[in-house]
Amino acid sequence: MAESAISIQWPDGSRNQARAGEPWLVAARRCQQIIPTACRTGSCGACEIEVNGVVVRACISTVPAVGNRGIQVCRVEDPDW
Ligand code: FES
Repeated sequence: MAESAISIQWPDGSRNQARAGEPWLVAARRCQQIIPTACRTGSCGACEIEVNGVVVRACISTVPAVGNRGIQVCRVEDPDW
């Protein structure tokens, strides 16, 4: 059974859809969103985003299956950077 599309609201207020399991960096690029990256291995934290209030590292994470709830993505501001 195919995954249904999940509604995503990005930090700039735009909305798009992605599939559960789609890598965050792929979904962001397709939706013309920029998520900063550095190591792309999950070790540096440059790509951290907040997904419905939970911080994840986008380079090693995928769009979660949330059903009809949708996802709000926020930027994580790191004061140490
Ligand atoms: S780019 Fe370094 S943790 Fe994702």
